[in-house]
Amino acid sequence: MSHVDVPRSSTVYTPRELAAAMVAAVRGRPGALWLDPCTGDGAFVAQMAASGVAPRQIVAIDIDPNRSAVDDAAQTIRAIDFLEWAVANRAAVDHVVMNPPYVALNRLRGKLLARALDVCTPNGRRLSLKANYWAAFLIAAINCLREGGSLVAVLPAAWDFARYAARVRESVAQAFGEVTVVRCRSPLFPTVQEGVVIVAAFNRGARPSVQRRVEVPDLRATIAALAKLSEGGVPLGASTMRAFATTSLPMRRLDELVDIHIGAVTGDADYFLLDERKRLEWGLPRSAVRPVLSRSRHLTGAIIDTREWEELRDQGARVWMFSPTPSSLKHRAVRAYLAHGRNGGCNVAAYKILSRDPWYLAPFPERIDGFMSGMSKRLPFVAFRGMPRLTASNTLYVVRFKVRATRDEKATLGLLLLTSMVRKELALQARVYADGLLKFEPSDLGGIRVPVAEARRGAGRVLRAATALLLAGREAEASAMADAWVSGVTATANAADVLPETCAVA
Ligand SMILES: C[S@@+](CC[C@H](N)C(=O)[O-])C[C@H]1O[C@@H](n2cnc3c(N)ncnc32)[C@H](O)[C@@H]1O
Repeated sequence: MSHVDVPRSSTVYTPRELAAAMVAAVRGRPGALWLDPCTGDGAFVAQMAASGVAPRQIVAIDIDPNRSAVDDAAQTIRAIDFLEWAVANRAAVDHVVMNPPYVALNRLRGKLLARALDVCTPNGRRLSLKANYWAAFLIAAINCLREGGSLVAVLPAAWDFARYAARVRESVAQAFGEVTVVRCRSPLFPTVQEGVVIVAAFNRGARPSVQRRVEVPDLRATIAALAKLSEGGVPLGASTMRAFATTSLPMRRLDELVDIHIGAVTGDADYFLLDERKRLEWGLPRSAVRPVLSRSRHLTGAIIDTREWEELRDQGARVWMFSPTPSSLKHRAVRAYLAHGRNGGCNVAAYKILSRDPWYLAPFPERIDGFMSGMSKRLPFVAFRGMPRLTASNTLYVVRFKVRATRDEKATLGLLLLTSMVRKELALQARVYADGLLKFEPSDLGGIRVPVAEARRGAGRVLRAATALLLAGREAEASAMADAWVSGVTATANAADVLPETCAVA
C-alpha cells in the first residue's frame, strides 16, 4: 500500500480461510453486485471468484495503484479513495466484504481526512477526529448497500471499546434487520496484538429486529461461527442482545416529537447565576432575576414545580439568573449590580456577552416544556417544568414539544424515555467520559428512537413514581415500571393507529 497519506501500518491482510468464511457468510444472491472497498492483494476477491461470482459482479477498490494477481477477477479500480467513490455510489451494491484500514483519523491528511470527516451515518451524524479510518469505511460501505443487502467486515477490537465506536455500532444496528457480532479473543493478524470482531449484517433497510453476539477463542471457532451464519443459522453460544421485532411498536426519533436545545448561555455563570443569599446581599428585587436550574443535580423529580425549586433555593443552590426587566433598571440595587458587572464583576469582554445588546440580558429559550441533562452519571430523563418562568442555564438542555402537548402526553413521553428499550439505545449512544460521566449532545438525544404509544390518563402519576426510582439509583425498577405501563397501553390500543397526526405522543 503506497499512498503517501495513509500509514503503511494500517494494512493487514486477511488469512485465506477467514476470507473464504467471510465471503460465504455474506449469503450472496445470484446476480448480485459485490464490493470490496479496500481490496489490497484481493483476499476476498479470490474467494468470491472461487465461489463462482463473475468478474463483472465484483467491484474491487484500493488506493494502492499496484496491481494484485487477482485484479482481473473483478472490475478493479485502483489509485482511488473509496470514500470518494462511495459518495457517487450510494445504494449501488448488494454485498460488501471488507477488511478496512486501521489508522487514527488525526494521522490522515488532506482530502483523505476531509472525506473521512464528511462521512455521514444513516441518521445524519459525522465522525470526530478522534475516530478511526475503519469506522468511516464501515459507514460509507453501509451507505453503498442497496435495500436487502448484506455486509461482512473484519474490524479491530476497538469496535467494542472505543468511545467513537458507539456511534458506529448504533449505525450498524439501525441500518440492518439482523446483525451478528463475532468477537474472536485471540489475534488473527501477525502484526495486531488484540483479537478482532467480525460483523455480519443482513437485510439493509429493514427494521432492526435481531442483534446477536458470540465470543469465540480462536480462528477455528470464528470460522465455525461464520459457517453457521452462511447457512442462515445461529452460531453456537450466541446471545441475542436486542430484538426490536418482539415489540410490534412503531418507533419514532425523539427529534420528530420535541426540540432539544441548550439552556440560556450567560457568558459568565459566576456573575449571572446567584443563590438566594447573594441575591439578598445585593438586595436585588425579584423583577431583576429569574428562577433557573443550572445543574444536572437540580433535576430532582419528574416535575420541577415551585416546591421542588424552593427546596433547591433553601439548600443554597444557584437558582436565580440575573435578568433585569426594563422597569427594574431604575432600582438602586440593580444599578449597583450592573456597575459591579461593568467594573470587573462580570467578564463583559467574553464573546457571548460582547455580542449581545444589552450585555446583561442573556437570551432565554422560548416555551420550555422540560429539562434534560446532557452530562451526568445516569442516563438522561426529562424533568418537566411545573413552575412558571423557570428556565435553565446552558449546563442543561431544554425540551419543547413541536406541537403543544397535554400533561398526559408529556408524561407519556417521559415514561417512554424510561422504558428499557430506550435506555438500551441511550446507553449505546452515550459518550463515556473519565469518572463515568455520560455525555450526550442535543443531536445524540434527538436521534434516539422512542416507541409510539397512546397517552393515557394517570401517566403523570406513574412517571413521578418511576422517576423517583431512577433518581434513587433503582434504574432497572424504573424501567420495569415504564415497560409495564407501555405494554398496558399497547394491550388496549392497536399500535399501528395510536398516533394522531397532530400530536406525537398522543
Ligand atoms: C487492512 S488492508 C486489507 C486488504 C485486503 N482486503 C485483505 O483483507 O487482505 C486495507 C487496504 O485498504 C487500502 N486503503 C487504505 N486507504 C484506502 C482508501 N482511502 N481507499 C481505498 N483503499 C484504501 C490499503 O491500500 C489496503 O490495501
